[in-house]
Amino acid sequence: MVHHYRLNQVRKSDVEEEESTRDSEAQMLLADCAKKTRPRLLPMLLLFSLFSCAIVFSSSLSNLYFERDGPFLTDARNPLPCSNADDTDCIYCDRTGYRSDVCYMRGDIRTQSSSSSLFIYSPNKTAEFRVEKIKPYTRKWEASVMDTIDELSLVRKSSAGEPTAQHSVCEINHTVPAVFFSTGCYTGNVYHEFNDGLIPLYITSKKFNKQVVFVILEYHNWWITKYGDILSRLSDYPPIDFSGDKSTHCFPQATVGLQIHDELSIDPTLMPDNPANIQDFRRLLDEAYWPRIKSLIQSEQQQEQQEQEQGVVPVPVPVGVKKKTQIKKPKLAILSRNGSRSITNEAELVKLAEEVGFEVQVLRPDRTTELAKIYRALNGSQAMVGVHGAAMTHFLFMRPKSVFIQVVPLGTEWAAEAYYGEPAVKMGLKYMSYKVWPRESSLYRRYRHDDPVLTEPERMTKKGWEVTKSVYLDGQTVNLDLTRFKKRLLRVYYYCSIMSL
Ligand SMILES: *[C@@H]1O[C@H](CO)[C@@H](O)[C@H](O)[C@H]1NC(C)=O
Ligand SMILES: *[C@@H]1O[C@H](CO)[C@@H](O)[C@H](O)[C@H]1NC(C)=O
Ligand SMILES: *[C@@H]1O[C@H](CO)[C@@H](O)[C@H](O)[C@H]1NC(C)=O
Ligand SMILES: *[C@@H]1O[C@H](CO)[C@@H](O)[C@H](O)[C@H]1NC(C)=O
Repeated sequence: MVHHYRLNQVRKSDVEEEESTRDSEAQMLLADCAKKTRPRLLPMLLLFSLFSCAIVFSSSLSNLYFERDGPFLTDARNPLPCSNADDTDCIYCDRTGYRSDVCYMRGDIRTQSSSSSLFIYSPNKTAEFRVEKIKPYTRKWEASVMDTIDELSLVRKSSAGEPTAQHSVCEINHTVPAVFFSTGCYTGNVYHEFNDGLIPLYITSKKFNKQVVFVILEYHNWWITKYGDILSRLSDYPPIDFSGDKSTHCFPQATVGLQIHDELSIDPTLMPDNPANIQDFRRLLDEAYWPRIKSLIQSEQQQEQQEQEQGVVPVPVPVGVKKKTQIKKPKLAILSRNGSRSITNEAELVKLAEEVGFEVQVLRPDRTTELAKIYRALNGSQAMVGVHGAAMTHFLFMRPKSVFIQVVPLGTEWAAEAYYGEPAVKMGLKYMSYKVWPRESSLYRRYRHDDPVLTEPERMTKKGWEVTKSVYLDGQTVNLDLTRFKKRLLRVYYYCSIMSL
């Protein structure tokens, strides 16, 4: 199908100018990363955690800025420990990961929530007593976050010397494996919910093909409600609230803790048994949200029909008689922020984008917005624009090949690329960063124009979290230079039309 986009709007010089700017930006970025990724990775990760565990962190800022080298990815282990069907009392903890520990168990596993324990009863009468402790959460490197997470003891007992009666009796005997993990520390931050929780859960549980029970520490009803659509695609069984459910559950096999690869992404080479990538995760989201979206569409159609019957709206012209001039416009979604890092001239931006030829939808997701609705809007858009922040996580809802423009305020460049820009590229999106110039930042009016806050944000953010947070994250809004931004929009419009997105 040929789309009649207004190609003539794209002046060649605009495109070329932007290309060259972008190329040099890209080179700078590469040079930046090569120099700084290692030492800066940790502080920036820590910086992000603050969004979710603000209280924990504000008391432990002094810990944040230490450097650490070392592998950031979990090694692939093939086969996985304790996966041999002959194992009858296997406990193996892999503590080599930078982001998480994961323990594996196989045998006669029984839960005891009163003592936060999982027992494994060995048939070997002389088996050694053994205890492993683990906090099944994926932010291992952040001691102050981990301090808030419940710890589990994995205990191997021999059946010798202990009459069976003393073993906790199996009240609920499951035939499928369990995956134990914590949903602690989340405070409704969508970045953490996907990055620390759902994607690792997908990585860890995909191989079970829904034949798995999720046992959740620090269980929250809201989390189950919010992500029920996704959870039911990963497991055919209802999740268990570990501390709320006092029954003894028995499992033949358990994974305690979640495997995690990298920021909002999946590395198939680390899943040798059952490889998947982030596009597969996205497909799962599509399947998960489809039933709800279908019912939304149906109820909208019913309502429209009723209104037509009541004469509220005119009956549409029959198909085929449709006006020829009607052309399909590419859709642009603006993820709007309120307060810090908001776009102060958002209304003008909307107008501009409409002039360029987009159909514009402004989304204002908050903690209570139903994700299926956001998914529907973004899955139906060709482009998304937003200012750097947790809401950028929703790039996961965009269809591959569509466009993601991230507006990058001063002092957030590194985080914007590492947390959203690079993962978006891995997902197959066309990613553009729009780095605001000092005069587009509200800081331009607050500081002298030669102040390092404006001239050297990179150096300033190295001074520590307080500066980064108060000056750049909380203290900044963006007033887009619409002449400059228009060039981006034209490029995107042009791209959408040649790609027939
Ligand atoms: C039982 O456990 C002991 C002590 O750990 C070990 O030496 C022995 O090989 C085990 N026996 C079997 C049959 O696994
Ligand atoms: C649990 O069920 C399995 C399969 O039916 C059975 O082999 C096992 O003995 C049961 N375990 C307990 C502790 O009841
Ligand atoms: C997402 O968009 C694609 C392409 O338009 C469509 O096939 C799919 O059904 C949409 N998914 C949902 C859940 O609406
Ligand atoms: C922004 O937030 C304030 C206070 O929370 C509220 O009064 C205002 O209506 C919000 N604006 C928009 C556009 O949502």
